[in-house]
Amino acid sequence: MNRYIRKVAVIGSGVMGSGIAAHLANVGIPSLLLDVVPNEVTPQEEARGLTLEDIAVRNRLSATAIQKLAKQKPAPLSSKTKASYIEAGNLEDDLSRLQEVDWIIEVIVENLTIKQQLLKKVDEARKPGTIVSSNTSGISIEAMSKELSEDFRAHFLGTHFFNPPRYLKLLEIIPTEKTKDEVTTFMKTFAEEVLGKGVVECKDTPNFIANRIGTYGLLVTVNEMIKGGYSVGEVDSVTGPLLGRPKSASFRTLDVVGLDTFLHVAKNVYDVASGSEKSIFDPPSFMKEMAEKGWLGSKSGQGFYIKQGKEILELDPKTLQYNERKKLKAPSIERAKQAKKLPDKLITLTYADDKAGKLVWNLLKPVLLYSAGKAYEIAYDIYAVDQAMKWGFGWELGPFETWDAIGVAKSVERMESEGDTVPAWVKEMLASGQESFYQGGSYYHQGRYEAKPVNEKIVNLKSLKPDNVVFKNSGASLLDIGNDVALLEFHSPNNSIGADVIQMINKSIKEVEKNYKGLVINNQGKNFCVGANLMMILMEAQDDNFFEIDLVVRQFQQAMANIRYSEKPVVTAPFGMTLGGGTEICLPSASIQASLETYMGLVEVGVGLIPGGGGNKELYLRNLAKSDGKDLQSVANKTFETIAMAKVSTSAQEAVDHGFLGTKDGIVINGDFLINRAKNEVLHLDAKGYRPPERAKIPVVGESGYATMLLGAKTMKFGGMISDHDLKIAEKLAFSLAGGRVTKGTLVDEQYLLDLEREAFLSLVAEPKSQQRMQYMLTKGKPLRN
Ligand code: NAI
Repeated sequence: MNRYIRKVAVIGSGVMGSGIAAHLANVGIPSLLLDVVPNEVTPQEEARGLTLEDIAVRNRLSATAIQKLAKQKPAPLSSKTKASYIEAGNLEDDLSRLQEVDWIIEVIVENLTIKQQLLKKVDEARKPGTIVSSNTSGISIEAMSKELSEDFRAHFLGTHFFNPPRYLKLLEIIPTEKTKDEVTTFMKTFAEEVLGKGVVECKDTPNFIANRIGTYGLLVTVNEMIKGGYSVGEVDSVTGPLLGRPKSASFRTLDVVGLDTFLHVAKNVYDVASGSEKSIFDPPSFMKEMAEKGWLGSKSGQGFYIKQGKEILELDPKTLQYNERKKLKAPSIERAKQAKKLPDKLITLTYADDKAGKLVWNLLKPVLLYSAGKAYEIAYDIYAVDQAMKWGFGWELGPFETWDAIGVAKSVERMESEGDTVPAWVKEMLASGQESFYQGGSYYHQGRYEAKPVNEKIVNLKSLKPDNVVFKNSGASLLDIGNDVALLEFHSPNNSIGADVIQMINKSIKEVEKNYKGLVINNQGKNFCVGANLMMILMEAQDDNFFEIDLVVRQFQQAMANIRYSEKPVVTAPFGMTLGGGTEICLPSASIQASLETYMGLVEVGVGLIPGGGGNKELYLRNLAKSDGKDLQSVANKTFETIAMAKVSTSAQEAVDHGFLGTKDGIVINGDFLINRAKNEVLHLDAKGYRPPERAKIPVVGESGYATMLLGAKTMKFGGMISDHDLKIAEKLAFSLAGGRVTKGTLVDEQYLLDLEREAFLSLVAEPKSQQRMQYMLTKGKPLRN
């Protein structure tokens, strides 16, 4: 059957419902957001003369939820304009409109009876064949639907998004025995390709996979904290990045999730479990007391932590008082911090004979045993368990990968010596001589190793063979990614741009012009590129080595020109932070294929500089191309504003609004498909007979335009909004964008603009206040306003 989803009904406009509707809007799918009709008017509504009959009152819940989206952080909408994709409605007046949609997703309170009642109404109102799903955190999908029609059940499944839906990669899909295979398959592909999710199919068991193990792990952590006499902050100082988990570690994660939601989820298992599992899923009484007091975490202003003024205090579970935040100190923590790779950190901590070692072992051991014990009850294989924990909880390694990292045989021996029972299948694996759950690209499954599922659209640079490396240096590698396409991968510290990366850009383009159809620039680090190597610039500046800086800037400008005028198309594929020089690399490329989660900006002002590699000129050209060319001043003003205010897009869609992306560019929702999309773009451009752009002259606003831009900056200075140094930077920026002292409309060479840009850059580098800004950024990681 040929299915598509053109419109969706989201029922329930709370935290998750509104977040899901927002994410649908992000990918361009309109939705109808429905909620209950309020049973009384608010004083404000009464003052406006509204009654319960008025649509504004009847749609109040979902309409308010839509309005709130624009203010939430992190932003659920990839661009504020996307809110127009969501239409407010209510469950009394709009039920018949369920006929308009291709997918209905239920996102109401976590209560079986209430969900059953709602789904009955949905069954009666929907048109046959419409897919229906529930976003339950862990209620049985089968139980929700068992009384409903055959057609409903054939098209019904669980689709469990994680909070917040835009940012968390995991989508658990839970079909029942009645769900048609065609529906499950379609939803998996749709979720991956259109919504950009990482899909894991789960069995219909309480809390599915990630919450089952995640909740267990958190409850074990709480118990161990109490038993071992550790404080909330001490536990968090060990259970975050040191174990390859998010910075929010254990208790700040709980504060973000919300204690009420957490207790609900724990209860799902508690209700059906028995024995020791039941006792773990019965949270300690202090947590229940916290919930009663309304100390739910971020949403209620306090939980395991509270912010008082600038200080963050931690809760003492015994007294329910807040105290100064502590960090655990132990020799193994220091050693783990020194270790470069996560497996080394894990080994150091797990087997250390100190306070931290004891804590880590006592937390990890039960989670590994529980994961192995439950794996086949909740999932189809261990790979699914690992993927769910990585995508849903942001762990760098899933439980089985973690177990491999610390050594299965060694840890099993210790577990058994401590009287723990290790699941039989793990013992069988070891007995058969297999020492790890993973071997290369395969995972252990019932006595053999099965290859991980391969999606041809996902290119994994790590899995490329040494033969694929065309050449490399310390900062970057040129890789052959097949079909006559090459990829330039940065791997310098933080993927910053230094002389080694610049050299590789030039060398790669030469190679590609000779032997390939085109070049992709991308990598699979945390961020695309955080800009130029600031440390290098600052050190040279402090040594008064301006000749050296001038040379590097010239080389960088030349490399950007090589990208722009390459005979073969260069396609950049940014994602995550793409700042300063990172953005400058993208702007001259033949096409930018950006991940939806791309945070792009020319942020040099923050470190007392302006872009020096052609970024000013390139952004001006992009804005010029979007305009009709009649109002040069507006083009210059927009460019000036974006750079002077160091605007950073909160998504690729916002990067379009800021002028960084244009019509030749594309947005890729699922970041895993980025390389494939960029590669296809190279092939597509090549097939069309790619020609580099012409070296045309550029019209500039000249001296009068410079004065206009400067006036804006001066007004801000007089208003006390910017500092003297900000104004100085703004002056230099305006001058180079305006094209210096020429008359409005003069056509200038690119090189002329590049020279102005470079001169401005060099004069700013020499300024003590700019150097202070660079120093501050390098030490504190945030901009200094001086
Ligand atoms: P919420 O409390 O923010 O929103 C629930 C919504 O359901 C409200 O808009 C409410 O008006 C509506 N509602 C209440 N009774 C209703 C009824 N009888 N008929 C129709 N609508 C009704 O809850 P949240 O957090 O959005 O959760 C919704 C679902 O998503 C739950 O099943 C929850 O377990 C699940 N979930 C929650 C996550 C979270 O982190 N909050 C994560 C993943 C799933």
